[in-house]
Amino acid sequence: MDYILSIDQGTTSTRAIIFDHDGNPVTSGQLEHDQIFPKAGWVEHDATQIWNNTREVIGQALSKANITRHSIAAVGITNQRETTIIWDRATGEPVYNAIVWQDTRTQAIIDRIADGDTNRFKKKTGLPLATYFSASKIVWMLDNVDGVRERAEAGELAFGTPDTWVLWNLTGGPDGGVHATDITNASRTLLMDLETRTWSEEILAELKIPATLMPEIRSSSEVYGTVSSSSLLREVPVAGILGDQQAATFGQAAFDAGDSKNTYGTGNFLLTNTGTEIVHSTNGLITTLAYQLGDEAPRYAIEGSIAVTGSLVQWLRDNLGIISRSEEVETLAASVDDNGGVYFVPAFSGLFAPHWRPDARGAILGLTRFANKGHIARAALEATAFQTSDVVDAANADADVAMTELRVDGGMVANSALMQFQADILNLPVIRPVVAETTALGAAYAAGLAVNYWSGIDELRTNWQEGERWEPSMPAEERERLLRNWKKAISKTLDWVD
Ligand code: G3P
Repeated sequence: MDYILSIDQGTTSTRAIIFDHDGNPVTSGQLEHDQIFPKAGWVEHDATQIWNNTREVIGQALSKANITRHSIAAVGITNQRETTIIWDRATGEPVYNAIVWQDTRTQAIIDRIADGDTNRFKKKTGLPLATYFSASKIVWMLDNVDGVRERAEAGELAFGTPDTWVLWNLTGGPDGGVHATDITNASRTLLMDLETRTWSEEILAELKIPATLMPEIRSSSEVYGTVSSSSLLREVPVAGILGDQQAATFGQAAFDAGDSKNTYGTGNFLLTNTGTEIVHSTNGLITTLAYQLGDEAPRYAIEGSIAVTGSLVQWLRDNLGIISRSEEVETLAASVDDNGGVYFVPAFSGLFAPHWRPDARGAILGLTRFANKGHIARAALEATAFQTSDVVDAANADADVAMTELRVDGGMVANSALMQFQADILNLPVIRPVVAETTALGAAYAAGLAVNYWSGIDELRTNWQEGERWEPSMPAEERERLLRNWKKAISKTLDWVD
């Protein structure tokens, strides 16, 4: 067998990428899906469209490579995490659109559960009570979609994050589909006990979530099932599942305690592997699972999740219309010498790590008559680097040893000016690997390990190659001035929601 096929079901698109044994991408297919915004703060996806796109991108990747299922040793799945889908086990029909991780409609549910203490479940789950995670989205569907609670209690419905949805459909759907997730995705629901890695009966009971909805929790690398006969990939084993940020960590070969990576996608997500130890942050980071290979001990991580970075560029394109294609942001930002005193805090879903302030809302500050769209584009890009600096500070404050470099990946790392600014603001070297498709690669690795396509993680380490490196060169005074203003800007966005 020559290749591994990886499905990356992301927030804005679904991709299938075929990898060879050296971890190089061979071909890929990609389709965007609709972003549905029914009301302010609500973000939905059509789960059926996502599944149809998944089937189609698999076909695109196979046909571009001119190969068939006989050359594919295994399939790996990686996905946008937390996004919540509930569907009918008998028909495969979702009961409602997928409620996306960025959606904030469940703040009132969160406030009720928190009862003044958003850290109530933190020790057990690693997470603060926030709309970001799946639990309150499930509760919302149970309480607000007609008949869902009764059907769930009767065992007719299944819950899943997008990995589970894709796995169930790939392996047969109503016709014997496997209803499972992996520990990394399970750790994002606010419903899994970090120590036992099982669903917390206590939390399920308190939130009145019927246990019959829940998928089985499996490791990140094992054969979950084989692809059903209706697919181009029929009989190929599905053998790896990792949430997209954990997949990127794995694809960056960050296998050991202390290894970190930062992914620049719709949002930014910085993960530091903490090995077999569960580390609880005291600085606003969350505790999550990094990966588990079959029966081996699970590995944990701490994570700084930032809700809005790349999606701010989309917002400039779709909502403000100051660019017509995302790539144009780089040129527009370069049309001005500096940010002209303009700061953009994109608190569209409140602020995630390290602040966890649902009451914050986005703001553009420091405007004068001098400011133009170039300054706004520049401020939007700089916001990505400033937000990353806030989570790196938190990670450093939590760790015994400060970070000495930052490994990066994701769409925005193609922007060299942004990466230079990132190195300057962090005062650290920023390093991009040769294969920047680390998310899909990580899921491919997990799948390939399970079927002995790769012999072990030592073999994978040798696949990681440094591509480009940006060294910091900004004078300290300038860095300090920019960060001082950024912190001031953040403080102005708090307490906005009544
Ligand atoms: O936690 C949300 C994250 O998994 C989304 O990642 O790459 O789709 O923006 P991405």
